[in-house]
Amino acid sequence: MGRSFSTVLHSSLLLLILAILLSHAATDANVSAKPREDRSALQRRGRRGDASSPSAAGRLRFNGGKRQGEFKILQVADMHYADGRSTGCLNVFPNQTATCSDLNTTAFIYRVIREESPDLVVFTGDNIYGFDATDAAKSMDMAFAPAVTLKLPWAAVLGNHDQESTLSREGVMRHIVSMPHTMSRFNPNGFDIDGFGNYNLEIYGPEGSLLENKSVLNLYFLDSGDYSTVPSIPGYNWIKPSQQLWFQRTSSHLQKEYMNKPEAQKEAAPGLVYFHIPLPEFGSFDASNFTGVRQEGISSASVNSGFFSTMVEAGDVKAAFTGHDHLNDFCGKLTGIQLCYAGGFGYHAYGKAGWSRRARVVSAFLEKTVDGKWGGVKSIKTWKRLDDQYLSTIDSQVLWSKGTNGKIVFFLLMM
Ligand SMILES: *[C@@H]1O[C@H](CO)[C@@H](O)[C@H](O)[C@H]1NC(C)=O
Ligand SMILES: *[C@@H]1O[C@H](CO)[C@@H](O)[C@H](O)[C@H]1NC(C)=O
Ligand SMILES: *[C@@H]1O[C@H](CO)[C@@H](O)[C@H](O)[C@H]1NC(C)=O
Ligand SMILES: *[C@@H]1O[C@H](CO)[C@@H](O)[C@H](O)[C@H]1NC(C)=O
Ligand SMILES: *[C@@H]1O[C@H](CO)[C@@H](O)[C@H](O)[C@H]1NC(C)=O
Repeated sequence: MGRSFSTVLHSSLLLLILAILLSHAATDANVSAKPREDRSALQRRGRRGDASSPSAAGRLRFNGGKRQGEFKILQVADMHYADGRSTGCLNVFPNQTATCSDLNTTAFIYRVIREESPDLVVFTGDNIYGFDATDAAKSMDMAFAPAVTLKLPWAAVLGNHDQESTLSREGVMRHIVSMPHTMSRFNPNGFDIDGFGNYNLEIYGPEGSLLENKSVLNLYFLDSGDYSTVPSIPGYNWIKPSQQLWFQRTSSHLQKEYMNKPEAQKEAAPGLVYFHIPLPEFGSFDASNFTGVRQEGISSASVNSGFFSTMVEAGDVKAAFTGHDHLNDFCGKLTGIQLCYAGGFGYHAYGKAGWSRRARVVSAFLEKTVDGKWGGVKSIKTWKRLDDQYLSTIDSQVLWSKGTNGKIVFFLLMM
């Protein structure tokens, strides 16, 4: 290659980079110039929000517990709780049947909480197995008791079996939001929405840090329903347009708040989504590109709700976590989003003898800025805990880390 040609190539590359930088600067300038009006609207909304949402003291935030710079979430999927001691276990070895009941599910929750000390416990549906629960409220009280007793913040969504006892889906969710220490919400105020238990939780930066008034990690919870009510569509239900619209608006509002002054951030805070029934896209993987196992089919709705594309389009979601298929416990990445199962937790849920019941742990880690202060989330990791003798940890992996699919890599590639 001739010297002059390479110089031309070089300068045009530089020009291109300059143009991109300028266009970014222009966008940034508009973002910061426009707001006079927007900002006060946001503040108004914020104030209104503060009245109905937990007080600043009751907020979830980093460094609220033992660990510094880390926020840990324990996911408990498919407890299938019924009547407690009198409810037997499914799929354990014959020599384990006599001594196994719902109380083993409870014991496992206590064990894993003691070991991991999570900052939040998320129950992703089929919390109770309605058909075998004599009293839905009592069954839920027993199922969620470990989190309540230990005064741990917890959140729950509904599965497809929670309403099969003495309470409707609405009744089950009303009971959940009335329980102690729950962060669960019934539904967003003033928003006509399908299902029960669609809400979001904001995890704030450490007290005293620059991001103490910002949500640095966003959690979304959705009701994926039970069964289709459309006669021509058999099978499970799906996340409806009303829920997707709520999710879209919430995500976009949170992104604006994060990227607006004060302490305007350059990119959205990462989001994690929790619901019960997997999306059809969970079927996009095989052993060559997931971590974990797939031992049964993907029991999603028979139609595609479009929620996966809605999440991709929103831009902030890094991972979605479900339960429902107890024998699948993998995470696979599709179009920038990790799709993860937790694997079955409960002993009254179907499982596989000799294949330990399990839980998924997710931890988000903060970065430190150049001056040694806490910044935004830099990475999100996951692993599973097995209810075996050692409470074994398996399949540790990084779900997301900052900058891996952002602009920085893009610029490096261009250079
Ligand atoms: C930014 O503002 C300028 C001047 O007001 C305008 O010409 C341009 O279209 C705006 N760009 C965006 C991305 O809004
Ligand atoms: C129970 O049965 C399983 C499978 O047959 C066997 O591996 C295990 O050793 C037995 N446990 C006891 C305590 O006998
Ligand atoms: C259930 O708990 C009992 C009592 O602690 C214990 O002996 C038994 O091994 C447990 N069963 C299983 C399958 O973990
Ligand atoms: C956060 O909000 C409180 C109360 O309004 C304020 O005193 C504090 O300075 C704010 N912190 C930051 C970093 O902006
Ligand atoms: C995973 O690998 C299989 C081939 O082994 C391929 O068909 C599939 O598209 C891959 N999925 C993703 C999300 O890359």
